[in-house]
Amino acid sequence: MKTGRAGRLIVGNWKMNGTRAALAEIRAMAARDDLWVAPPFTLIHAALEAGGGRVRIGGQDSHVRDFGAHTGCVSAAMLADLGASFVIVGHSERRSDQRESDAEVRAKAHAGQAAELDVILCVGETLEQRDAGRAEAVVADQLMGSLPDDPAGLIIAYEPVWAIGTGRTPTVADVGAMHAHIRARLVAQFGDAGAALPILYGGSVNPGNAAALLAVPEVGGALVGGASLTAAGLIAIAEAVPD
Ligand code: PGA
Repeated sequence: MKTGRAGRLIVGNWKMNGTRAALAEIRAMAARDDLWVAPPFTLIHAALEAGGGRVRIGGQDSHVRDFGAHTGCVSAAMLADLGASFVIVGHSERRSDQRESDAEVRAKAHAGQAAELDVILCVGETLEQRDAGRAEAVVADQLMGSLPDDPAGLIIAYEPVWAIGTGRTPTVADVGAMHAHIRARLVAQFGDAGAALPILYGGSVNPGNAAALLAVPEVGGALVGGASLTAAGLIAIAEAVPD
C-alpha cells in the first residue's frame, strides 16, 4: 500500500460531487504521487487517466456481490477491473441514507478484499451518542460488527458523524483516545497485523487543522471530504503532514 510522508495516507472522498470539469483537479493532484481520491463512479475511468498512474483512484462504495441483478449498483470486481485500487465501505452517510448495517458493511469489506482492493472501513459515533458517553462503545460495536475476517489491505477511518461537513472537529485528546481504543480492538482481533493497520481520522479536516490532527499518535492519515474537492486543498493537507 503506497503511503505518503511519514507513512500517512491522505485520501479524498468527493461524495456526490464532480463532473468532467473536475478532472482538472485530479490532473493537478498528480503533482504528487501519494494522494488517494474516491471520485463518483462516473469519473473513475477518466480520473485514472487524468491521474496518470500517480493518483490512486478508488470507489466510495461497492456491492456485496460481484455481478448480478442489482440495478444501479457497482461491484468491487468492476472497480478492480477498471484499475481502481481501493474502496470505501461503511461511510456514515451510507449507513444512514442507505440504512447499511454492520453485517452488510462487513460483507462489502470481504467483497473488496476478494477483488484485491484496499478497503477503507469507516466507523464513528453521532453527537447524541458522544454526549451520552457512549462514543467508545458505539465505535467498538461498529468495528466488531463490520471488521472482515482477515486484515489484508484493511484501513480503518474514524469519522465522528457530527464532525463530517460541519467544520467541527473533536479535540486532539479525544481523537487520540478514540484511535488508541480502535488500535486496542484491532490488536485484540488481528494480533501483530492489527498493530500495523492504518487508522485515518475524518471529519472537517482542512489545511488549517491537518497538522495538529495528523500529529496525534495513532492517526495514520486523513479521510477528507469538502477540502479534497480541489487539488490545492488536498495538496495543502498532504503538505501539512508532520515529519
Ligand atoms: P468532510 O467529510 O471532510 O467534508 O467533513 C469527511 C468524510 O465524510 O469523509
